[in-house]
Amino acid sequence: MENFLDVAVGVAREAGAFLKQFSKGPIEIFYKRKSDLVTEADRGSEALILDRLHKHFPGHAVVAEEGGGADTGSDYCWYIDPLDGTTNFAHGFPVYCVSIALAYRGEVIAGVVYDPSREELFQAERGAGAYLNNQRIRVSKTANLSEGLLATGFPPFATNHDLNLQFFFKLTRLSHGIRRPGAAALDLCSVAAGRFEGFWELKLNSWDKAAGALLVMEAGGRVTDLAGDPFSLQRDEIFASNGLVHDEMLETFSEILEEYKKVECG
Ligand code: IPD
Ligand code: CA
Ligand code: CA
Repeated sequence: MENFLDVAVGVAREAGAFLKQFSKGPIEIFYKRKSDLVTEADRGSEALILDRLHKHFPGHAVVAEEGGGADTGSDYCWYIDPLDGTTNFAHGFPVYCVSIALAYRGEVIAGVVYDPSREELFQAERGAGAYLNNQRIRVSKTANLSEGLLATGFPPFATNHDLNLQFFFKLTRLSHGIRRPGAAALDLCSVAAGRFEGFWELKLNSWDKAAGALLVMEAGGRVTDLAGDPFSLQRDEIFASNGLVHDEMLETFSEILEEYKKVECG
């Protein structure tokens, strides 16, 4: 049987090189909804990835952001974000990536995230550790939230009432600060590589987080939802950390949620 991870790595590199070609010139932007961008590069990258995966694994199921997925009934399912960080990409801000993961019966078993701007390739296989450009990576050892750097993200349809703004406000003051780089898969890889102590987001799709979540777990980190329940591809929220600041951050989420409920209920 072909090695799933090797195939995914080759395909992610190819798709990343395809995306990079667009960085030289203006790119046409289309709108799925207000502030929800898609470009010809997203669509082209997805077509390329699906073509390659289909050649290697014709029976596998696929969930892909731009709609090219297929439900074949297979126990194996690929989760593909052909361009994570589309808004950055469309504005020429070079923080974007390709994210490809494979799940077996709902559990992610392999993941690749490729950042063509930095030529950084993150990969993990369940039980075999996490790697950046073939070097083993591990989450940071920082145990105090007050010394941690965090990251989060907001969906394109965020509103003033977005609960995440409350989390952002409070956690900014409890840490070294919060970044909002704009590509969730890379944010998760930054937790895996020890660059961020924690990352959370409330409205993500399975293709945004499948590969990155495995990277964090294989790098020794912890991945749950914002209530501390186990990570699930089906839930839209995710909270990943180095494990050491996890409980402190969970407490903060819970406190804010309680305050928010009180205000909402008058
Ligand atoms: C988005 C990015 C962003 C996150 C958004 C996602 P896309 O994915 O990951 O960082 O905050 O929630 O939708 O649309 O660029 O693939
Ligand atoms: Ca995405
Ligand atoms: Ca995308």
